[in-house]
Amino acid sequence: MNRRIIRHGVTDSTSLRAFAALADGTATHGDVHVASAQTAGRGRLGREWSSPPGGDLYASVVLLPPAPGLDPVGLTMAVGLGVLRGLERLEVANLSLKWPNDVVDARGAKLAGILVESRGLQPSAPHYVAGFGVNVTRTEFPAELLRERPVTSLALCGAETDAEQALEGILVELEAALAQLSTSPHVLCDDFVARAGLHGQELEVTRGSERHRGRLLSLDLDVGLTLSSLDGEETIFPLEHVSGLRHI
Ligand code: BTN
Repeated sequence: MNRRIIRHGVTDSTSLRAFAALADGTATHGDVHVASAQTAGRGRLGREWSSPPGGDLYASVVLLPPAPGLDPVGLTMAVGLGVLRGLERLEVANLSLKWPNDVVDARGAKLAGILVESRGLQPSAPHYVAGFGVNVTRTEFPAELLRERPVTSLALCGAETDAEQALEGILVELEAALAQLSTSPHVLCDDFVARAGLHGQELEVTRGSERHRGRLLSLDLDVGLTLSSLDGEETIFPLEHVSGLRHI
């Protein structure tokens, strides 16, 4: 994959910069937009991603795969695995994935967040922007963030590193995970299940306003999530309809 790194210093959002490059026709597959801080960092579900200066990682990768494009859920899982494995290169132990794609430490504190987006996707010319934010050096976080959930950083996990080193490892592993998505999606799904600790677990699946409980039997990009309820009944949830998944 091409590794053109475009450095913005302080910008609104690396994902918005990637979309701007796509819109003006200057984007190429594999471009990486990096910022030292973001004034309008975007998180999932329209939330803000806290993005102060000081050494944390804010990056977005442009993906222009051949038509018909990539399975969006598979892509999200691949990016999650790429970021997780990239951070493990820094010898941070006991990391895992939390559905759909947070990287968390052993006590569930969030270390990194991932946002995969596309805009007006054309089947003949698919494009995606895979944005990820990693807390690298920060040891203090805004109170409103901590009210939502525990948060951590590589520094708090004991890793002596910087955003450049974290980015380098993530880009290598992201490329490998995207190749895995194309060549062996079943293995990618198995790896995701293992790294999210979902295997055979009792889960609660959110689909729209409904919640369902059951034990995970399998996760497959074509079939979906298969859960077995207490009475042994199997229910299949297409992955694109799963908005939440948690251990119970
Ligand atoms: C989440 O809500 O967990 C996803 C957060 C994704 C944040 C990253 S930081 C780099 C890229 N640019 C953005 O504006 N958002 C993503």
